[in-house]
Amino acid sequence: MSDKPICRICGGALREFLDLGPQPMGNAFVPPDKRDDEAFAFRFRLAVAMCEACTMVQLIDYVQHDQMFHSAYPYRSSGSSVMRAHFEDLAGRFLSEELTGSDPFIVELGSNDGIMLHTIAKAGVRHLGVEPCGDVAEVGRSNGIRVVNEFFDEDLAARILADDGKADVVFAANTFSHIDFLDSILRGIKNLLAPGGVFVFEDPYFGDIVQRASFDQIYDEHIFFFTARSVQDMAARYGLELVDVELLPVHGGELRCVLAHTGARPVSPAVTELLKQEEEQGLTDSATLTRFADGVRELGENLVARLRELRDQGKRVVGYGATAKSTTLLNYCGITPDLVSFICDSTAEKQGRLTPGTLIPIESPEAFADPYPDYALLLAWNHKDEILEKEAAFREAGGRWIHYVPDVRID
Ligand code: SAH
Ligand code: TYD
Ligand code: ZN
Repeated sequence: MSDKPICRICGGALREFLDLGPQPMGNAFVPPDKRDDEAFAFRFRLAVAMCEACTMVQLIDYVQHDQMFHSAYPYRSSGSSVMRAHFEDLAGRFLSEELTGSDPFIVELGSNDGIMLHTIAKAGVRHLGVEPCGDVAEVGRSNGIRVVNEFFDEDLAARILADDGKADVVFAANTFSHIDFLDSILRGIKNLLAPGGVFVFEDPYFGDIVQRASFDQIYDEHIFFFTARSVQDMAARYGLELVDVELLPVHGGELRCVLAHTGARPVSPAVTELLKQEEEQGLTDSATLTRFADGVRELGENLVARLRELRDQGKRVVGYGATAKSTTLLNYCGITPDLVSFICDSTAEKQGRLTPGTLIPIESPEAFADPYPDYALLLAWNHKDEILEKEAAFREAGGRWIHYVPDVRID
């Protein structure tokens, strides 16, 4: 028997509240010649818990980082024009508000294809992207950014410090929550950060996940689910302080946190406000977590029931967006090609492959209109506005979208 699981931030006891069953890795899209092996391929128990001491929400079992992030990692950040605009805007804010000294320096963890740093590079500001996945690190370089192809940790932070000096900004989008060794990361950042510097990160917000029952935000890469309260507690353990927060509409609801050296910056009223809101919502109460888990089961059952009805009526249903998130949804609900015949996705690295565990073929977006299906399951629901606008002709031709966040709805 294994020992009782403990919190990876504080060592406290974990209270499990959701088990999504055995799951493959979210981005482990299957090459067609490996389809027969998929039934025997890697699975892990996707279960979520809250720490009884520090309230950090986290996966109980997790996948080794080099299994998830390797040279063939398929995720490309720049596939969404909304996300490109989001990061250009943020880069502009860094340039005007933080990178204003005589020779400023910014480090980004998980720089991917350079979606944020290319704006910084164009402005001629000193920067370094840290990107462990070789292929996408190369794409970043071709987009004009300076990239080190390694995992960030305390050791790399020390080498960056020796070569480039202290950082005015350390930034991580959709990356900090993906790392199981946050202890090493935070010690590295504490050393690397200039006295007046900031560590800014943005990741899916647990409050939005609970509110929208968006349980497909839970997959191997999302190891931690932050709240203002758990981040404030975690930061304090490393001599850092949560000085600002912002709720973001992107990716289905995210929390941007700003950490500074303890006492170095005033704490924004937004922090106090969000802490109060989380308390009032009972975000960490066991009744809330039980309600969330019940809502997940109900949502899954409703979606499968609707898809079966449509299949039995002879309707053609395809998926839109082969997201990592949808791996959780499809496997949890047991959605296979009899219910969703294929999924279209703009990422070249995913096309021609099959979804992990459920073996639904992935095709290019051109296949969507060739001819249009009767229904489209919006798997990339976090890009709803962008996709519905782009695919307006589908609706005009009589097609209907199937939404499942925050509940199952056809329109
Ligand atoms: N920042 C981008 C990419 C997010 S995907 C965006 O928001 O769209 C997560 C990225 O984090 C991947 O590119 C992955 O390779 C990278 N990553 C994972 N572990 C890391 C680590 N320890 N240090 C730096 N990057 C890491
Ligand atoms: P995303 O939701 O960003 O991430 P995750 O994989 O972490 O859940 O993935 C969006 C996917 O949807 C990505 O594979 C690209 C695809 N996509 C399209 O095919 N068309 C579009 O217009 C957009 C915005 C995304
Ligand atoms: Zn804890």
